[in-house]
Amino acid sequence: MKGSSFKTRMKVEMPGIQTRYTGEEERAMLKAVRELNSFTQGPELKNFEKEFAEYIGVPAAVGVCNGTAALELAAVLSNVGPEDEIIIPAHTFVASAVPFARRGARLVFADIDPQTRVISSETIQSCLTQKTKVVVVVHLYGLMADMDPIMALSDKHGFRVVEDCAQSPGAIYRGKRAGSIGDFGCFSFHTNKNITTLGEGGLLVCRDPKAAERARKLSWLGNWPFEGERERYWLPAMSNLVVAVEGVWPYNFCLSEIQAAVGRVLLRKLDAINEQRRKQAESFRKGLADDPELSFQRVAARENHVYHLMSAVYDGGQSGKNRDDLIELLWKEYQIKCIIQYWPLYRSELFKSFGYGENRCPNAEFFFDHMISFPWWSNMPSETIQYMIESVKEAIHRLRTSV
Ligand SMILES: Cc1ncc(COP(=O)(O)O)c(C=O)c1O
Repeated sequence: MKGSSFKTRMKVEMPGIQTRYTGEEERAMLKAVRELNSFTQGPELKNFEKEFAEYIGVPAAVGVCNGTAALELAAVLSNVGPEDEIIIPAHTFVASAVPFARRGARLVFADIDPQTRVISSETIQSCLTQKTKVVVVVHLYGLMADMDPIMALSDKHGFRVVEDCAQSPGAIYRGKRAGSIGDFGCFSFHTNKNITTLGEGGLLVCRDPKAAERARKLSWLGNWPFEGERERYWLPAMSNLVVAVEGVWPYNFCLSEIQAAVGRVLLRKLDAINEQRRKQAESFRKGLADDPELSFQRVAARENHVYHLMSAVYDGGQSGKNRDDLIELLWKEYQIKCIIQYWPLYRSELFKSFGYGENRCPNAEFFFDHMISFPWWSNMPSETIQYMIESVKEAIHRLRTSV
């Protein structure tokens, strides 16, 4: 094969930060550093939680140190234990599953829908048993699952719904934000999410305010203020140590004040960030719409997707070429570094070691074996998008016609 035909060559790699900070975030950070009385347990966190809950449209939110911690709280508050089964998509990031597995529950892997590539009511239905306690709905890559039929199943069978919104903050399904539909919504502000609170961070939203109070107690080691005035403020101690959930030792999952201060600024920008990402995605997808080897996630309504990542299936068909041929060509000759995500969990060493190796979910398998994830971040320069479109087109054409 000869080299690429472009005069201008770029190097395009997956960045470690999806949305770069501007002066606004930097100022919020500095102000917090200079003016706050404490870097933890203060007004920034309280306000961030309040504003986030209002934005999502739920009664309460609890800021935590990462998205996995939010899922851990959701598992505890759903009272998950060794007798229970938890339905979870086979295709997701490992964090969606581990907090439930850690509580001794059996994971039941549901397949993904081949078009949307997220879990669906149909794939859930075939996994339901009397023991199903929770269904974890992961809005993967930024796309919300079709929630109405899932909630109808939940009403009928009585399982709880935990929405894993780590990749979908701000997405909207039929007028409702991701996280506001199930019993719990779990968010991540990890460095490569649409918004980040200094590299780590997370948040749990709850439909039931009492659950949020328990989550708060659980997430700071059971520390809880005494009620009312005390004559001697220091007695018996600075705060009480309370039971959040009977029989469960509490955690330290706190999110710092500086992180919350930055989170508040980004929350105000989240809709604009997502809209920019949608436009970027639309131009990328349109640019590659005529190449039948590539297919993107099916999206029912524009606002359902916040394009956390840009993934597609590559099917070389009669050319006999596969996804690895495409990734290799894009990297070696165009310097575009694509990756693959995520293990059907039961195929990984970790899940095999816990006895899950025998599972099979054909759509998740097909997707994992054919998927390609393109470099992606907020505010990609239009020349970079154009370079990617032209390179991918040329690479696909070369694979199509090479013998
Ligand atoms: C789908 C999904 N769930 C959960 C998480 C866990 O979030 P965190 O890394 O903040 O613990 C992530 C990302 O990291 C994720 O992509």
